Formats: sequence, structure tokens, C-alpha cells
Amino acid sequence: MSIRAGTLDRVRWLRREIETHNRAYYELDAPTIPDSAFDALFRELRELEAAYPELVTPDSPTQRVGGKPLAQFAPVTHAVPMLSIQTETDTGASGAEHFDSRVRRELEWADLNVSAEVEYVAELKFDGLAVSLRFEHGIFTRGATRGDGVTGEDITQNLKTIRDIPLRLSGEVPPLLEVRGEVFICRDDLARYNEKARARGEKPLVNPRNGAAGSLRQLDPKVAASRPLKFFAYGIGAVDGWNPPATHKELLDALAAFGLPVCTHHAVARGWRELADFHDRMGEERSRIPFDIDGVVYKVNSLALQNQLGLRSREPRWAVAHKYPAEEARTVVLAIDVQVGRTGALTPVAKLQPVFVGGVTVSNATLHNEEEVRRKDVRVGDTVIVRRAGDVIPEIVTTVPDARPMKEEGDLFARVPLHPPFELPDVCPQCGSHVVREEGGAIVRCSGGLVCPAQARGALLHFASRRAMDIEGLGDKLVDQLIAGGHVKTPADLYALTVLMLASLDRMGEKSAENLMGAIGKSRQTSLARFIFALGIRNVGESTAKDLARHFGNLAALQDADAAALENIPDVGPIIAESIVDFFAETHNREEIERLIDAGIHWEEHEGAIGASVGPLVGKLFVLTGTLPGLKREEARELIEAAGAKVSGSVSKKTSYVVAGEEAGSKLGRARELGIAILDEAGLRQLLRGESS
Ligand code: IVH
Repeated sequence: MSIRAGTLDRVRWLRREIETHNRAYYELDAPTIPDSAFDALFRELRELEAAYPELVTPDSPTQRVGGKPLAQFAPVTHAVPMLSIQTETDTGASGAEHFDSRVRRELEWADLNVSAEVEYVAELKFDGLAVSLRFEHGIFTRGATRGDGVTGEDITQNLKTIRDIPLRLSGEVPPLLEVRGEVFICRDDLARYNEKARARGEKPLVNPRNGAAGSLRQLDPKVAASRPLKFFAYGIGAVDGWNPPATHKELLDALAAFGLPVCTHHAVARGWRELADFHDRMGEERSRIPFDIDGVVYKVNSLALQNQLGLRSREPRWAVAHKYPAEEARTVVLAIDVQVGRTGALTPVAKLQPVFVGGVTVSNATLHNEEEVRRKDVRVGDTVIVRRAGDVIPEIVTTVPDARPMKEEGDLFARVPLHPPFELPDVCPQCGSHVVREEGGAIVRCSGGLVCPAQARGALLHFASRRAMDIEGLGDKLVDQLIAGGHVKTPADLYALTVLMLASLDRMGEKSAENLMGAIGKSRQTSLARFIFALGIRNVGESTAKDLARHFGNLAALQDADAAALENIPDVGPIIAESIVDFFAETHNREEIERLIDAGIHWEEHEGAIGASVGPLVGKLFVLTGTLPGLKREEARELIEAAGAKVSGSVSKKTSYVVAGEEAGSKLGRARELGIAILDEAGLRQLLRGESS
């Protein structure tokens, strides 16, 4: 097909427009046209490119996803090697001093004047995967892993799916610029991704670092596209036709001006004291920084001095990583216990020789399930590496095979492991009921139901918890006594307790017995959402319970809903739907509900049901992303819900509005793709006041 006059101009114009609007959107957070108009531009470009494939260019905004799965990654030789970085072993403040004195000594040997304090830049040490991005005349043409530093792998297709990485640089671009930086995942994004993955029956990502690395090593770019990957630039590799600025700080600013994301947590520091200050400050910030860091990096600011200092083997003398106390440590497995959860799932838990890691003493680590124990082959007596990152439950990263205790066996005295491979028991360690294997053996569950004290205990504690029926004072010690004494088996039994009976328990005075009775009495007045959550239906968390209450408005409608009706609700997929249907299919569950209602539990029918409540935003579905200037996320959610609308965690065609704040993530992009209205905080407040925007 020949290209009509003007088409090329139109295509170019469309790309420029889309890029400008994208930047206004993603970087400046200040959209200049309505979303529908943006979508129209995007659609027109896609249609023109489909009609005239010869017009497709690699930097076209249409090119982010769409590559076919690869058979293997091609090797890439780095023209300028990707260096690694020396680690300052002293994790205390003096790490900065050691580095500074090393740098000064080197400079003295080189006969350079070091009378003044050396100037550095301090950055965060991102815990992700290092990559190199090649931009030719500003266009992102190739991206590679670090590999061994000299040869990496071509992962261009996967990197293109990362929205943070511009397909084209802005400003005056050199013919060649290689950008070095880190691909990583934010902790919150990982948790949200994992929640969804579990609900879809997929494997969750183990931790942010493995998640980032694993995602980039997928041959099918669709997998990488589905992962919440982010990127920060922190250096350069090969350059042609550009004189880099005089300092590292200016280099970072220049990279940002090219449109590359540069982490704002960096600072110019004079002398070691200012480096140590940065180390301490970021150490305190650490838990509030939305991604994992394992330390900070110090770099000599002057690029000329960097050159003078040069390399020692593969590590530059001008940079050092100053780590925080290890989040990984070595210890020994004393035993593998089996815990029975609220839903009866048997979970192996490693009892560890207590070890200090990530700032706390750890003596237990979850092993998730039997498959995980087999895969890692963790046995009693093994030496293992445990990891604790952020507030994640400690876990065993790997065993140290050489340290496994062995014994001699048989006539030939062959050395065999002292302990056999771990296996979950065939009966529940708590109640002796047989166990059933679900989902291909991945989940092993006690069949005892509420006969099993562990499940009964879990169910009662969950029922009484703050976000469920909120029975203050009903803690685990008390629940244990109530179960052991045969006073309570199921939640409904709580409502038959008396002060007299309670006061007869250990460490229970008349006063506390009365208080507890008061709390139990108070819990009778509740909300449908709390009641649904309190039932402890598998896979139904607090937010799903709210969705169900709002959607159905009353319990009878929920009890009778089939899977299809349930899946109509945003965020309810087949797994959640099945759990709900299964729960209500059990006669004993329906009977328990009847007993609870007979005991006087009640709520306002139809509270907040979509289409049934009042408020200016009834029936609308909101998604929140990023940080709003004047509202915490929970506050925004409450305001929206109070106006009759609901808030969901993910953007879909059913979403009515996306409220986007600072550092809005991929949800914003998704909203644009789907042409969903986007609001800032002011726009949201306007809507809440009942004014249309
Ligand atoms: S600069 C000068 N800066 O640390 C050497 N690296 O062991 C080039 N890393 O593979 C690296 N944050 O993955 C540099 N702000 C930062 C970094 C950083 C994380 C990683 C990077 C590299 C490893 C070095």
C-alpha cells in the first residue's frame, strides 16, 4: 500500500502529542487533556501503524509490549564493562571514615592535593537487578543484564514493558548513551501482586529482588509486563558524541533531564561525616522507603578524580557500598514443627537456633508448605541462611549442603544424612483427624474442621478480632482455656457464656468477667461486612467482605449466590467465588450462622449495598494510586465509601474513576489505556461534594 500524502506527518505529530501528554502525565503529574482525548490519539496512531507497518518505529509509544516470546536470550558484550562495587564491611558509622581515608590515601599517592575535604555523592543501594540501557540518537534500542560484567543477556523486550524506562530520551540527545541502573519492585506492589497471584492460583514472588530478577529473565515479555517493575538510573556506560558533566551529581541531573527516573534520595556530601550522616538518616528512613535497599553507595563526586582513582580488578576505587546490618544470617534448624492454621492448613515451621538478623532475633521461619521444604530440602540439623527483609516473615533462603550432619551406614559405612527428608504427617498433629491433600498436593489440610482444637481456636480468635466482631479482651490464653474446659467450641457458644462461668477461670476476676461479657454483648450490634469477615471464609479478607456486603446488601442474597453472580463483583475471581460457594454449601456453616443470629447478632440490612444506599457516588467504583497531598489512602477510602461508592485495588473496565496522586504507579497507565476518568485530590473532593467535574 502506498502511503498517502500527509500520513507520515500525521503519525509523527501523533507520536509527539502522545509523548508530550505521557510526560505531563507520568512525570509532571499534570495531565493537559482529558483521557478520552488521549485515547483517541493513541487509537489513531495504532490504526495508522497497522495500516502502514513500514511507518512503525522502535520508539513509537505503541511499542511497549507486543514482542513474541523468545527461544533464548542473545548475548550482549558490554563495550564498557559493568563494574561491581566493593562492600565496606564495617556496618557502623566508621564505614564512611574507612572509605574516605582510603580515597584520600590513594589521592595522596597520586600526588593530588587533598587538603580540603573530598566531595562525594551518597545514594541508596537498590536491591534489584543491574541493567544497561542503550540509547541511540535518544531511542532505546537495547537493554541487557549485567551478566559477568563483560557479557550480559539481551532483555530489551522485557525492559520495554517498564513504564519508567523512556523509549525515547528528551532534550538534546547524543548519538550514543548507555545508561546504567537498577530494576526493582516496591514492597507494596509485590504484596499486591502476590495477593492477586495467589487468588489466581499462581506462585507468588519470593521477595522483591528475586521478583525483579526473575521477571526480567522471562522469555515471554507478557510475563514481565504483568509484573510491577520499576527502574532508577545511577550511572552511564559507553557514550559517543557527548561530554558528560564534571561531577556525578550533575550526571544524575543530566540523566533526569533526559527523562530517566533518578531516585531523589541522594545527596552531595563533603568528608566522611556527611557520608555517615546520610547512612544514618537513610537507615532510619529505610522502613518508610517503598522499596528494599541493602545499604547506601558512596561515590567520589568529581568524574576527573574518579578517573584518577581508577579500578582495582573489577571494582572502582571511587565507590563503595556501605551496607546496613545483614538481613540474612546463618543458623541451624533445631526442629521442623507442623502448625495447623485457622483453615486447617498444615504449615511446616522451622525452629531455629536464635539468630540476630535484620535488627531482631529470629527463632522461627515459615517453610510455607511441603513442596517448599522438598524443593529447599530443609532437614533437622541443617545449617541454613535465613532472611528477614522489612516486616516480611523470616524465611529460609537456602541450606548449606556441606554442613549437613551425616552418619555412616551399612557394611560399607557409606555416609548418609543423619535425618530423613521432611514429610508432613498423614494425621493432624492437633486432633488426629486424617489430612486431605488439595490443589495437587500443594495444600495439606486437616479434615477435622471445628473438631480440631487448632482450627476452633483459630476460628474463635479470628471471629473476635478487632476488624471482625471486635470482642475486646478475648485473647489467645482465654480462648485456650475456654476450649480446654469444653465451654466453647464454635463462635456461637461465646454468646451463651455467663459471668459466673467466666469468673471461675484462671486469672479471671469478677470484674474482668463482667468486662468480657460486656464486650461480647456489644459485639451483637455489628455490620454485615464485619459479620461476613468474621465467618472466616477461606480467601475472604476484610476488603472482599466489604465488597460482598455492599454488593448483596443482605446475608440471604450472599448465601444463595452462585459462582457466576459472585464473579460479577470486581476483585472476586473464580478462587474466591468457589471458597464462598463451598462455605455456604456446608450445612454446619449455615447452622452456625443461624445460631449466631438467634444469639442476637444483628446489623442494618442493606448498609452500603451498591444501588441501595444513599450518597452522591452510589454505584461508582474507585481506584486509588499514588500519594495524595492532603489525604491518607485510608481517609480517601473512607470518604469515598461514605459517599456510597466503593474502592477497588485494581483498574478494570468496571472502574469509574482513578484517583491519582504523587508517584502514581502502573494503575494510572492502565486507566489511560482503558480510557477511565482520572482525578486528582481536588477533583475527588469536588465529586464528594456532589459537584460534577
Ligand atoms: S554503581 C560503580 N549505584 O550494586 C559501580 N550500583 O555491586 C557501578 N547497585 O550490580 C554500580 N544501587 O546492581 C551503583 N546506587 C547504586 C546502586 C548500585 C544498587 C547495585 C548494582 C551493582 C551492584 C554493585
